[in-house]
Amino acid sequence: MNERETLKINAKGHLELGGADCVELAKQFGTPVYLYDEAYIRRMMGVYRDTLQKEYGENAMVLYASKAFSCQAIYRIAAEENIGIDVVSGGELYTALQAGFPAERIYMHGNNKLDYEIEEALDAQIGCIVADAYSEIDKIETAAAKRNMVQTVLLRINPGVEAHTHAFVQTATTDSKFGFSIADGSAEQITAYALQKKHIRLVGYHCHIGSQIFEKQSFVLAVEKCIRFMAEMKDKLAFEADTLNLGGGFGIWYTDEDKKLSAENYAEYLQSSIAAVKEYAQKYALKLPYILVEPGRSIVGEAGITLYTVGAIKDIPGVKKYVAIDGGMFENPRYALYQSKYTPILANRANEEPTEIVSIAGKCCESGDIIAVNVALPEVKSGDVLAILSTGAYNYSMAMNYNRNKIPPCVLVKDGKGEYIVRPQTYEDIVRNDCIPTRLLKK
Ligand code: LLP
Repeated sequence: MNERETLKINAKGHLELGGADCVELAKQFGTPVYLYDEAYIRRMMGVYRDTLQKEYGENAMVLYASKAFSCQAIYRIAAEENIGIDVVSGGELYTALQAGFPAERIYMHGNNKLDYEIEEALDAQIGCIVADAYSEIDKIETAAAKRNMVQTVLLRINPGVEAHTHAFVQTATTDSKFGFSIADGSAEQITAYALQKKHIRLVGYHCHIGSQIFEKQSFVLAVEKCIRFMAEMKDKLAFEADTLNLGGGFGIWYTDEDKKLSAENYAEYLQSSIAAVKEYAQKYALKLPYILVEPGRSIVGEAGITLYTVGAIKDIPGVKKYVAIDGGMFENPRYALYQSKYTPILANRANEEPTEIVSIAGKCCESGDIIAVNVALPEVKSGDVLAILSTGAYNYSMAMNYNRNKIPPCVLVKDGKGEYIVRPQTYEDIVRNDCIPTRLLKK
């Protein structure tokens, strides 16, 4: 057990998260429900913030990649922890601003920012836009000129590093919708283009090589390629970049096939990237850049679990035993999208040894609506409270109303107590935007 550990089994044999009994939380808030341990989230934000400061001084900032889990409360926590955030849409930007997040610490990403998203970012005077298309450069230039301002911009470049992870979450191989490739010269061309713009202050580059990565070497390689490219731009275009954003991507534990990293291990990932920045900046005779890192999953992923109530159980002899829960792909689409693996625990009988292999199915009308396949559990009964671990990242943020299921609430746990940070949806929410044309109302 390490200091990031949030889960325990209490004297009643119940699972606890952040000191709160999950069976009690299930009674209090109903199921399905997403739970998040606030102390864990703060600890991880702090690990990144403090490691950067210790190893690199003030010339750096952590940005929480809020696509992993976005709601107003998480932006308040990030603001209190004195870190920045990255947003990838007008919706995330709006949420952060509504939460009172300081605009100057907001970076905006996305491979196809819409006109109104760029306008909103400029109006809010956010710290930086990470541009990923010629058309975005043009749009920023026009919108900034109209406002008589100069917008700080980074360019997303693609260092061509292949990280070993699921193809859908790999982003920096040559065939990617993200970034301008260093290798084929397009990163240089977009640099030259952006430098001509009067209302754009190009300060450097951003790269993000993928997600759920455990190999330090992939990050180090990306640093090397980016810095070598920065040196080339200094020679060829007389542009000395002063910012390098290294993206996110640190892996987390979902099942025992993944490494279980301690806070110190995450600090080590950062240390090796920072060491690489120093080494290559020196090698290529560049000044040390302002650096940014953008962890998302590793800040909130293991901080969260989802609680369900077990309903129908279907044993197909010789084939599979399906245990159906009151959630499913509408609140956790990751198995359906990536065949992601998860670890389940019976929260009300957490001490019991596993005796059977089951598959956990959701309630959507779709055979692919599965949460976990062939997982070991004690004999599961209808009414049990089932917990799925490591659901804090990319679960609530990817939830949807498929089959008109209600998106579950989010509960933040602190000192053994839970509080809503996202309230449960209601049926009124589900029909809120429906309209019936009057011709259909006739008769
Ligand atoms: N920065 C950028 C530009 C990104 O695109 C991402 C993730 C991050 C930072 C944060 O990466 P993290 O530290 O969370 O790995 N829905 C997928 C993950 C998609 C990741 C997208 N970009 C999943 O559920 O696995």
